[in-house]
Amino acid sequence: MASRFLAVLACSTLALSGLAPPASAQDAATGERLFRTRCASCHSLEPGQNRIGPSLNGVIGRQAGSVEGARYSAGLRDLGITWDAAQIDTFLANPRAMVKGSTMTISVTNAADRAAITAYLQSQPSSN
Ligand code: HEC
Repeated sequence: MASRFLAVLACSTLALSGLAPPASAQDAATGERLFRTRCASCHSLEPGQNRIGPSLNGVIGRQAGSVEGARYSAGLRDLGITWDAAQIDTFLANPRAMVKGSTMTISVTNAADRAAITAYLQSQPSSN
C-alpha cells in the first residue's frame, strides 16, 4: 500500500515538473495580463508614446525620469537612479514612499503581482 502511494507520488511529481513552464516565462505571461489591466491605461510600451505616464519601453536599465516629453514630478526627475528590477519593485509597492510627490497614484501591494509585472517588463524588447 505504502509503496503504491509512493509510486503515485513519484509519477505525479514527474508529471508536474515535466509540464510546468520555467517560472520566469510563467511570471511574464501573468505579468502581461496584469500590465494590460493595471498599467496600460497610463503607460505604453512603444518608444516615445507617452500617456498620463511615460512610455515604459526599455524602462529596466533606463535612467529614471528621462523620457523626453513625459510629464514627471520633480521628485522622479531628480531621483538620479537607473531602474533595475529591485527598484521597480520598491516603486510599485508604494510610489510616493520612494519618490516624494510622485504623480503616480496607484500601487501594487501584492508581491507576486509585482514580480510578475517586473518579469514582463524585463522580457520586453527595448529600442534604447
Ligand atoms: C493612473 C495612471 C498610472 C497607472 C495606472 C500606472 N502609472 Fe506608472 N506612472 C504614472 C505617472 C504619472 C508617472 C510619472 C510619476 C512621477 O513623475 O512622479 C509614472 C511613472 C512610472 C515609472 C517611472 C518611469 C520613468 O521613466 O522613470 C514606472 C517604472 C512606472 N510608472 C511603472 C508602472 C507600472 C508597472 C504600472 C502598473 C502596475 C503603472 N506604472 C501604472 C502613471 C500611472
